[in-house]
Amino acid sequence: MTRVLVLAGLCTLFSQVYAIGQDSCVSFKSSSSSFAVVSNGKAAPILVSADDWAGVHLAAADFASDIQKVTSVKATLTNTTSSNLATASKGSLPIIVGTLGKSSLINQIVNSTGLDVSSIQGKWESFLTRQVKNPLPGVASAYVVIGADKRGTIFALYDHSEQFGVSPWYWWADVPTTQHPELFVSSSGCSHGSPTIKYRGIFLNDEQPALQSWAMDNFTNGTGSAQLNSPFNHLFYSKLFELMLRLKANYLWPAMWGSAFAIDDPLNQPLADTYGVVMGTSHQEPMMRSTPNEFILFGKGTWHYVNNADNIKQFYFEGVQRAKNFESIYTLGMRGFGDLPLSEPINIQPLEQVLADQSDLQGLEGYYDDGMPVPDYVTLMWADDNWGNIRRFPIASERNRTGGAGVYYHFDYVGDPRDYKWITARLTHIPRIATTQIEKVYEQMSIAVEREATRLWILNVGDLKPYERETEFFISYGWNATRWSQNNLGDFVTAWAQREFDLSAASSAKVSQIVANLTRFNARRKPELLNSTTYSLINYREAETVAAQWAQLQDASTAIYNSLPSGTKPAFFQLVHHPILASSNIANMMLAAGQNNLRASQARYSVNSLADKVEQLFEKDYDIETQYHTLLDGKWTHMMDQTHLGYYYWQQPMTNTMPSITRVQKNKINIAGVMRIVPEGTLGAWPGDNPNQCAQGYSCPPPSISMDSFSSPSNRYIDVGAGGPIPFTFTATSNASWLTLSPSKGSISPSSPEQRVFASIADWSKLSAGSNSAIITFKATATGQPDLSVTVMFNAQKNTVSSGFKGFVEGDGAISIEAAHATRNNSVSGVAWSELPGYGRTLSAVTPMPRTDANFSAGTGPSLEYDFYNFNTLKGQGNVTVNAYLSPSLNTNGDTPLSLALQIDSLTPQIINPIPAAAPGTLPAAWDTNDGWVANAAVPISATFNGVSPGAHTLKLWMIEPTVVVQKIIINTGGLQPSYLGPPESVLIR
Ligand SMILES: *[C@@H]1O[C@H](CO)[C@@H](O)[C@H](O)[C@H]1NC(C)=O
Ligand SMILES: *[C@@H]1O[C@H](CO)[C@@H](O)[C@H](O)[C@H]1NC(C)=O
Repeated sequence: MTRVLVLAGLCTLFSQVYAIGQDSCVSFKSSSSSFAVVSNGKAAPILVSADDWAGVHLAAADFASDIQKVTSVKATLTNTTSSNLATASKGSLPIIVGTLGKSSLINQIVNSTGLDVSSIQGKWESFLTRQVKNPLPGVASAYVVIGADKRGTIFALYDHSEQFGVSPWYWWADVPTTQHPELFVSSSGCSHGSPTIKYRGIFLNDEQPALQSWAMDNFTNGTGSAQLNSPFNHLFYSKLFELMLRLKANYLWPAMWGSAFAIDDPLNQPLADTYGVVMGTSHQEPMMRSTPNEFILFGKGTWHYVNNADNIKQFYFEGVQRAKNFESIYTLGMRGFGDLPLSEPINIQPLEQVLADQSDLQGLEGYYDDGMPVPDYVTLMWADDNWGNIRRFPIASERNRTGGAGVYYHFDYVGDPRDYKWITARLTHIPRIATTQIEKVYEQMSIAVEREATRLWILNVGDLKPYERETEFFISYGWNATRWSQNNLGDFVTAWAQREFDLSAASSAKVSQIVANLTRFNARRKPELLNSTTYSLINYREAETVAAQWAQLQDASTAIYNSLPSGTKPAFFQLVHHPILASSNIANMMLAAGQNNLRASQARYSVNSLADKVEQLFEKDYDIETQYHTLLDGKWTHMMDQTHLGYYYWQQPMTNTMPSITRVQKNKINIAGVMRIVPEGTLGAWPGDNPNQCAQGYSCPPPSISMDSFSSPSNRYIDVGAGGPIPFTFTATSNASWLTLSPSKGSISPSSPEQRVFASIADWSKLSAGSNSAIITFKATATGQPDLSVTVMFNAQKNTVSSGFKGFVEGDGAISIEAAHATRNNSVSGVAWSELPGYGRTLSAVTPMPRTDANFSAGTGPSLEYDFYNFNTLKGQGNVTVNAYLSPSLNTNGDTPLSLALQIDSLTPQIINPIPAAAPGTLPAAWDTNDGWVANAAVPISATFNGVSPGAHTLKLWMIEPTVVVQKIIINTGGLQPSYLGPPESVLIR
C-alpha cells in the first residue's frame, strides 16, 4: 500500500486545488520519469560538500538513516572534498545535497550544467530538487537537492523523509515507519518557495510537572544542571531541534521556569545554531537572557531600570555578547520578575529608555496602545489573551513598519500569580489533552496573515506533548498559508491520520471526524473548568446528550484502535485515543456527580449507585493516566503528571480531588412512599415536599409537563425512581388516547432503581388547535406497602404555521438557529458572511470574509437573513429577545470596537458592540472569570425587539466591523430555559 499521501505530499491529494509548486515527488514504484533512491537492494550514494553548513550535514545523516528505516538498505553518505569527490561519485547515480552559494559541489554543478536556480536564489528557506544529467565528470545523472540557504536545504531533505514515510513525530509520538523495498523520486523533483511566516516557532512553557520530570528521567543521570538543576541539556534539545526542523519550524523559545538555556548546558546555544534553529527568549526575558534566573545568579543590584540602569545594561550586553555568533532574535522590552508588569509609577518613560538602549517587542501592548513609541525596525509581537484570542492585529497604518509584526499564541496556559494577576482573575488552564480546535487556530491565524502579522509566530506549547497535531497545524499553516482554507481543515487531519497510522482514506476520514469532535467537545469547556453543573441536568437533555456524544466518540475511537497493528497502537493511543478516553471519562464523571447531587435533593435511591459511579470513574482517570505512562516500557512516564481535577483557585491542585458526592441511607424507607416521580425539565420530585416543586416547597400542585407540535426533541420523559430499598412495580396510564407512554409499566428495585417513561404524540391531527390536556397516572405496588399513585398533568400545545411558510419555527417558546443556516446571504463589495465549518460549540460559525479593513454602517453591509415563525411573545406583550453566541474575539481592530447589528423585519437595526472597552493591556471584566466568556467559549449578546407579533418574520444579521464570529442564534419568545449550549436547533420547514 502506498503511503505517499503524507502532509508534505498533500499536493498529491490537492494538487489541482492547491498547485503551489510543491508537488509530491516520491513514489514506491519506478516509472519512466523516476530516479532510484533505493532499487534492487542498492541505495544511491549521498554526497554533501565538506564546506556546506554543519546543519546540512546533520540533516543529510538523518536523511540517510530515514532511507534505511524505510527500505532497510543503508545509503553511503560522503562528506566530499576535492580529493575524495571523484572516488565517491564515480560510476554512481548519486543524490547530491547542498546549499546554493555555500556548497562548492552545488555551485560547481550549477555552473557546469547551467541549471536554472533563479526560482529560489536569494529566497529565504526555499528549495528545489530535480534530476540533472552529467552533473559531474563521470556521473551520468544525479538527483540534486538544493536549498537557497541553510534551512532551505535542511527542509528539502526532511520534506523528502516525510514523503518516504518517516513522520516528523517518529520518536516524539512513536509513529511507525511503513517498510518499502524500493524508493523513487520523480525526475522533476519538489520545490518550495519562501514560507508565509518568516520565523515559525514554539515556546516550551509551564514545563513542570510533566516535561521537566520526564526530561530528568530521560536525559540526565538524575541530576540536572549545576546552577539550576535543569534537565534541559543538549541531549534533550537535539531531539527537539530535529523534530522542529522536520516540522519546518525554525524558531524556539526554550524552557525557562527554573531553566536557563545558555548556562544549563554550554552546548545548547551553539548546538541550536549548528542545527539551524533560531533562538529567542520569551516576552519576559530580554536580550537572550533567561530572566529572572540569570539575573538572580549573575546580575548586580535590583531589577529596576530607573535605579540600576548601568548594571542592567551590562547584564543585557553580556547576553548579546554571548549570542553574537549565533542566529538569534532579541526580545526587547522589560517586564518585572516572574512576568509581572513593571510597577505602575514607572510606566512608559523607562520602557522607552529600555527600548532605546536595547533594540522585538512583546507583552507590552498596553504601553504601546498608550502611546509609547517603538523603533520601526522592531518586530511588534501581538499576543493572544492566553486563550487563543489575539488581542490586536496590525491596523493599516501599522503595516509598513520595516520590522513587521508577529503573533504570540497559546495552546497551553497557566494563570500564574504573577502573570497579569490583575486582569486574569482566577482562571487557569493547563490542559493535558487536546482542547484546541484547529478551526479556531485557523480563524485567528488567517486574520494574522491577512493583516500582515507574518514576520514571526511563536506558539506556547506547554509540555509539547500532547499538542502534537495542533502544533503541526500551526507550523504547517505558517509554512504555507495559501494551502489551507476554512474549507479543507478536515483534510489536514485526514492526511495527518494517513501519514501517522497508515490508514485507508476512509478510516483516515473517520479519524478526522473523531479529532474534530474531540477538540470541539473539549473546546466547549476545557476539562479543567468543567464541573457537575456546567451542562444543564434538566433542560434540553443537555448533560445527557453531551455524555452520549462522548460515549459515541469513545466507541468510534476504540473501534479504530482495536483494528490497528500493535506497532501503531502506541502512536494512536498518544495522539487520539488517550485524550478521548480521558476527556470522555471526566465528562461522564461530572454528569454522574451532577445527577448524584440533584437526585439527593429529590430523595431518589439511585443517588447511591451514582456515587459509586463517580468514585469508580475518578479512579479510572488515574488508570488512564497510568496507561499512558506504562506505554512502551514507560517511555512517557511523567508526561501526564499534570493534575487536572479539583481546582480550588487558579493554580493546579497538588493532587486530583473528586467532585463532591452524597448518599442516602441504604436501608432507610422514604417517608413519602416507595416511588419518586420526576418529569423532564424540573428540579422537583413528587410525592412529598421538595423545595423545587413550587414556591413554598410543600402542598404544591401535582407536576405538570408541556410540549408543543414543534418541540425538539419531540417527546417528553418522566423518570420513575426508587425512593428507598423496597422493590415495587408500577404502571403508567393516561386519560387521553393521543398520548403514548412507553414503557407503560416496569419494575424498580435497589439494583435497578430508575426507569424513564417517554410520553409522545404519534398523530397531532387527533388534537385540537391550541391547548390539549391529559392526565398521566403512575401507580406503584409494593409488598407490604400502601398503593401509591402520582399524577402528572400533560399539556400539548398544537401550533400551525401559515401555509407556504418556509423557515425556522418556534418550539417550546424559543427559536434556535445555527448561524450558518441562513435563509439568504447578501454580499456587499465582495465581502460576505462565510461559514467556518466545524468551528465552535455546536456546528460551525460565520464571519465576514475576506477580513479586510472594510467596515459598514448598520444596515448597509453584508447580511444574513433568517426567516422564522413565532407563536408567542414575551409575556404576550409583542416583544421577543434575540440572543446570539459569538466566539470570543477581542477588539482586534485598533480603536474601533467589534460591532454588528441585528434587525427584525424593518424595525430599527440594533447595533451591538459585544466586547466592552478595557484599559490598554487589560481584558474586559467578563472575559476570563470562572464562568466567563473564554471559559464558556462564547460571548452572549442580546437585543429585544418590540412589535414582533405572532407570525412570519425575518431576522437580519448585519456586518459592521470585521472579525466578528457568530455561532448560534436563539430568539426567546418566552420559553427559553437556562442551558450551556442553548436549545437544540428548531424545526426548519424547507
Ligand atoms: C567534513 O569534512 C570536513 C573536512 O574535510 C570536516 O571539517 C567536517 O567536520 C566534516 N563534516 C562532517 C559532518 O563529518
Ligand atoms: C561559477 O562560474 C562563475 C563565472 O563563470 C565563477 O565566477 C564562479 O567562481 C564559478 N563558481 C564555482 C563554484 O565554480
